[in-house]
Amino acid sequence: MVSVSVDEAMRRAIELAARGLGTTSPNPVVGCVLLDEDGQVVGEGFHAYAGGPHAEIVALAQAGRRAKGGTAVVTLEPCDHTGRTGPCSSALVQAGVGRVVIAVPDPNPVASGGAATLRAAGVRVDLGVRGEEAEAGNVAWLTSMRRGWPYVIWKYAATLDGRSAADDGTSMWITSEAARIDVHALRGTVDAVLAGVGTVLADDPRLTARNLRDGSLAIRQPLRVVVDSSGRTPADARVRDGAARTWIATADEVGAGPDGRVDLPALLAALHQRGVRAVLLEGGPRLAGAFLAAGLVDKIVGYVAPRLLGAGPTALVDAGVTTIAEAIDLEFVDVTQIGPDLRITALPRKREG
Ligand SMILES: NC(=O)c1ccc[n+]([C@@H]2O[C@H](COP(=O)([O-])OP(=O)(O)OC[C@H]3O[C@@H](n4cnc5c(N)ncnc54)[C@H](OP(=O)(O)O)[C@@H]3O)[C@@H](O)[C@H]2O)c1
Repeated sequence: MVSVSVDEAMRRAIELAARGLGTTSPNPVVGCVLLDEDGQVVGEGFHAYAGGPHAEIVALAQAGRRAKGGTAVVTLEPCDHTGRTGPCSSALVQAGVGRVVIAVPDPNPVASGGAATLRAAGVRVDLGVRGEEAEAGNVAWLTSMRRGWPYVIWKYAATLDGRSAADDGTSMWITSEAARIDVHALRGTVDAVLAGVGTVLADDPRLTARNLRDGSLAIRQPLRVVVDSSGRTPADARVRDGAARTWIATADEVGAGPDGRVDLPALLAALHQRGVRAVLLEGGPRLAGAFLAAGLVDKIVGYVAPRLLGAGPTALVDAGVTTIAEAIDLEFVDVTQIGPDLRITALPRKREG
């Protein structure tokens, strides 16, 4: 068998970790590759779902005795606590692993400390191998754990001239079926989907993750959240259809901001408490504007159709910008053609001061 370097093993561990995206919350995605003393791969694993075995445990089970004296290459610091499963640090020590290579330290105060436990047991620990790459693969979880509220992705669909509906209010559909299939895949990777009550009243969306061809529901559904200050969501709205959990977040329950509407930071803190790590903000334009004005959006995914309307509502309303110097500056990080449309991914640039 061919031996692999620690760097190659980490690249593979990052690939393995990505298989858990969308199903591990409130836990992170983690991948692990176990090498024996000769650098041959003797075990591989990833964390597939919350409550299920951690990546290290899956890899150790595959490796059996061949783990002794070997190297565990893992994308996140092994946990040091007993939750629904036992501490991975102890399992690695018991298996006789000689070295553990970690990409990113665990920011979760409850689970961190694995590296110290391993070192105390005489295991060599190296930190930071392919750290940036592993960080990118776990960005929503890491960000939400470090600051205590979820990672927010604002998604919208618009024409090339930035319209989200025609002048008469018709909007179905601005983008192609291929783009809408992509949106449903995106919904499947987050823990909650948010919409303002304006969108619920106008479009009556289901906000579920579905197979658009046959209408079947994805196995794991994000929590549906309607941001609705005074509880105007109709009793027969589709979001109340029981196909997935729904939370009508009112100002009474969450708290009100200075304008009397739902306090958005309090809403995000409440979602974090419920185990939500990644949120897809699906609009509409007014709620998206309020999130952007408050600096609460981490990533923007815009689906832009090769069409023009010339009139009609825009994709974004009142984001707190009145003059060009206040424009919310972005960095485009990806442009991908999806059918006839473009999917543009952008990150807001940090504001000075
Ligand atoms: N193209 C797209 O991607 C896309 C996506 C979604 C929707 N849309 C379109 O958007 C239109 C609806 O737009 P909209 O702007 O009226 O609806 P919206 O943004 O979905 O909802 C706005 C409402 O959210 C409530 N809200 C609660 N807390 C808030 C806060 N802190 N800040 C701001 N709003 C808060 C407010 O009503 P209360 O004060 O009563 O709570 C507000 O009127 C529809 O025509 C729909 O088709 C387009």
